[in-house]
Amino acid sequence: MPKTKIAPSILSADLSKINREIKEVEKFADLIHVDIMDGIFVPPVTIDAKFVKTIRTKAHLDIHLMVHEPSNSYIQKFIDAGAYSITIHEEACKEPARQINFIKKNRVKAAISIKPKTSLDKIKKYLGMVDMVLVMTVEPGWAGQKFISSATAKVMELRKLKPNLDIEVDGGINPYTARVAFEAGANVFVAGTSIFGKKDRVAAIKEILRALK
Ligand code: DX5
Ligand code: ZN
Repeated sequence: MPKTKIAPSILSADLSKINREIKEVEKFADLIHVDIMDGIFVPPVTIDAKFVKTIRTKAHLDIHLMVHEPSNSYIQKFIDAGAYSITIHEEACKEPARQINFIKKNRVKAAISIKPKTSLDKIKKYLGMVDMVLVMTVEPGWAGQKFISSATAKVMELRKLKPNLDIEVDGGINPYTARVAFEAGANVFVAGTSIFGKKDRVAAIKEILRALK
């Protein structure tokens, strides 16, 4: 099983002091999860690549594009802004291989994501190409939703197929649900509300890590 990684999601952080917010968690976070929403694939709109460029951190930037048909030049902006990994959605792209290949050509880690109602079969043909799969455990678009436990069946099947692949879960992750996803085979844990929603963020991360021992 690959290394366990925690990815605080800045969707729940205070963007007016983002670098201070990140500084607090980066020592204990492998990745900083950045949600990009376009108002088309999902109703809300969040930050853009220009904002991402202002982020200063030693942790790796994990960019989650909830974006309809992202073009190469759009993706390029996030690469230039310092992306370590870029995730696209199967449901948002006509031919996800195009985006995956473009991301990889730029030596950035590529990932594909599926929403809770999307079957794993839809992405099986991309499993040999990607560095990570993001299994959404809520409907994408909003923080603070309840973990959809049926998504763990996909994590389980995926782990059987790909023992060494990074499998990320995103949505409703707290110490309890992180453990449920971990037992199914997930190793990368995105958490917004359960970290940035707490006063003591370091304690919140440590609590999730403890649940994964
Ligand atoms: C939801 C985003 C998540 C969000 C998770 O569409 O992709 O990354 O920040 O928030 P919580 O952890 O509060 O469910
Ligand atoms: Zn996300």
